[in-house]
Amino acid sequence: METTDDREALVLLMRGFQISRAIRLAADLRIANRIEPDGGRDVHDLAAECSVQGEPLLRCLRALASFGIFRVGADGRVAHSPRSLLLRSDAEGSLHAAARFYTAPGAWRAWEALDEALVGRVPHEAAWGASRFEYLSRHPDEARRFDQYMAEVPDRHHEAIAEAYDFSGCRTAVDVGGGRGETVRRILVRYPATTAIVLDRADVIAAIPAALLLGGRIRPQAGDFFDQVPAGADLYLLVRVLHDCSDADCRRVLQCCRQAMAPGARLLIGEQILDPDPARGAPASYLIDLQMMAMFGSARERLQAEFQDLLGAAGFRFLRTVATASSIAIIEAEPA
Ligand SMILES: C[S@@+](CC[C@H](N)C(=O)[O-])C[C@H]1O[C@@H](n2cnc3c(N)ncnc32)[C@H](O)[C@@H]1O
Repeated sequence: METTDDREALVLLMRGFQISRAIRLAADLRIANRIEPDGGRDVHDLAAECSVQGEPLLRCLRALASFGIFRVGADGRVAHSPRSLLLRSDAEGSLHAAARFYTAPGAWRAWEALDEALVGRVPHEAAWGASRFEYLSRHPDEARRFDQYMAEVPDRHHEAIAEAYDFSGCRTAVDVGGGRGETVRRILVRYPATTAIVLDRADVIAAIPAALLLGGRIRPQAGDFFDQVPAGADLYLLVRVLHDCSDADCRRVLQCCRQAMAPGARLLIGEQILDPDPARGAPASYLIDLQMMAMFGSARERLQAEFQDLLGAAGFRFLRTVATASSIAIIEAEPA
């Protein structure tokens, strides 16, 4: 029998998109950065600084404050709460990029077309007439927002991977689909003798700031991981790449890596391992799985056995799975 609490909780969940959209509005205006951590601002000053009207901004911030994001007094004074502090772009573990990413236009319209997935179509393609990465190539603002989101991803997997695995035997690494190279950067900071190549799409590579390349120890390289991966490195990383892919595309990327690898080289897959029982898994895991469905159709989060099957089919021997401090596990394999 449902309770009043269940009804209220369910209605708030139904309204989730309204909260998410208002969070993006505040993040786009950088409201959190405009308020000192221990200070407060009149909402009309904030609005003037952002060149928007005070009354609508007040209504948005009041709604957010009712969920503990900012504090808004009856006099229109806006101050921080622990949650709004995380929206500052300079916060440790900032969620600013995430706040701007989830309801960005590309994803927003794809989610609206979610039902298309139920009849075998790709929601993003139904909404935009283009694959996700074609769309990002044509929308540089949103593409850079995505790169930043991945570099500052809420699960903090980059640091967790660098911490969880012993990279001391690795002289050269290739971060395949490495985005801005945040994972290898965290690894190279810990292992000064290691160098790396970051392979990604041309527009992602062209946008990596030189300051992130550790004085040349990270070499950015534009390319298509379905075509060719740089050969001869000790270690190949595929972090959050396979979950963007159908099984057939996973096999293509893995086979490309396999061809580039000499005997003795290692492959590390960084992915979440989905628990098929949602009572045991974290809710965010299943939402990420749906995000993959909305963006790529049959791309998805996978079970441990599914990764092992993909590895076997692409000519790899599964070695072990290493847990990290994040939701991402490291699956280690070598050429069979
Ligand atoms: C989900 S992101 C993961 C980024 C990074 N590995 C991380 O963990 O933050 C997937 C990356 O794969 C890149 N990518 C997608 N298709 C690609 C292709 N065909 N060739 C090279 N990179 C590709 C995207 O541009 C994006 O940076």
